Amino acid sequence: MLTFGIVGATGAVGREVVEVLEKRNFPLSKLKLFASARSAGTKLQFRGGEIPVEELTERSFDGLDVAIFSAGSGPSLKFAPIAARAGCVVIDNSSAFRMDPTVPLVVPEINPEALKEHKNIIANPNCTTIVTLVALFPLHKKFGVKRVFAASYQAVSGTGAQAIQELKRQVSEIEEGKPVTKEIYPHQIAFNVIPHVDVFLENGYTKEEMKLQNEGRKIMSHPDFLASVTCVRVPVYRAHSVAVAAEFERPVTPEGARTVLAAAPGIKVVDDPTRNVYPLAIHISGKDDCEVGRIRKDCAFENGLSFWVVGDQLLKGAALNAVQIAEILRKYL
Ligand code: A2P
Repeated sequence: MLTFGIVGATGAVGREVVEVLEKRNFPLSKLKLFASARSAGTKLQFRGGEIPVEELTERSFDGLDVAIFSAGSGPSLKFAPIAARAGCVVIDNSSAFRMDPTVPLVVPEINPEALKEHKNIIANPNCTTIVTLVALFPLHKKFGVKRVFAASYQAVSGTGAQAIQELKRQVSEIEEGKPVTKEIYPHQIAFNVIPHVDVFLENGYTKEEMKLQNEGRKIMSHPDFLASVTCVRVPVYRAHSVAVAAEFERPVTPEGARTVLAAAPGIKVVDDPTRNVYPLAIHISGKDDCEVGRIRKDCAFENGLSFWVVGDQLLKGAALNAVQIAEILRKYL
């Protein structure tokens, strides 16, 4: 039985980690919850009891076997190496260590073998990357993906608990005829779509947009993979949707793709457009598996396929993926 910590336990992802550990009956002998000093003393429910949240300090990891970090890159950069030195294996949800060649970047359905060697820090990939790759990787194995064009439709909970409040508040303000206030996003998110997720880079893409290519190459062991992505924030509370057009080395048909995806782990085919059946953010919220639909021959690519993939980014895109990593690690610890 492992001793377990959650850093950022009061946040949008951290709270999900607590629930996922409970739901999956993860075998642990102790659970410690950490957040900033602001939250010290807050109590969270776990297995019928209450666990007090403690302020994160350099001593927090003494005696812990595993800690899942979901407090953002700043706290990860500072505290993950401290935890690793104390002998605690860190599963980090931030982008701080993902491209470090000594750090495994893992989606259990794709590259669990990468967990065999680590230096006590393991990175959980970007949420949109996980959701997209759960559908793309099985197709890659069969048909060999060359490049993709994609647009994401990302929920506000991906920004964190405060962004959920921002959408709720703006909807109320608009309904009450009050001026709209902005704290988190540069523009009103209620009843709007914002083509801006994360910071802009010199190449005109945002950092989030380059993650599918950069992280995808590492996770799929596919150094030539190309991805041109536009990430868009939409007024959805939960679950990310991604429209993908992919070009493959080998001929691919929608029927062939459906067969491959129907047998793939972590994803369900939901695809009957004539009956208005396709994956939807409101249907996938709270579910473990991602869903893929609108599978069709791409009319612009040779050997191309277009599809629509949706996943609960707080679960498979973050908390669930991290706990699945911990479940595999248990075998080696
Ligand atoms: P707190 O609630 O005390 O601010 P979200 O992604 O939903 O915004 O949540 C971020 C999580 O990370 C929260 O649990 C937050 O705690 C925690 N957090 C943010 N900064 C720190 C920090 N410097 N040290 C520890 N926890 C932090």
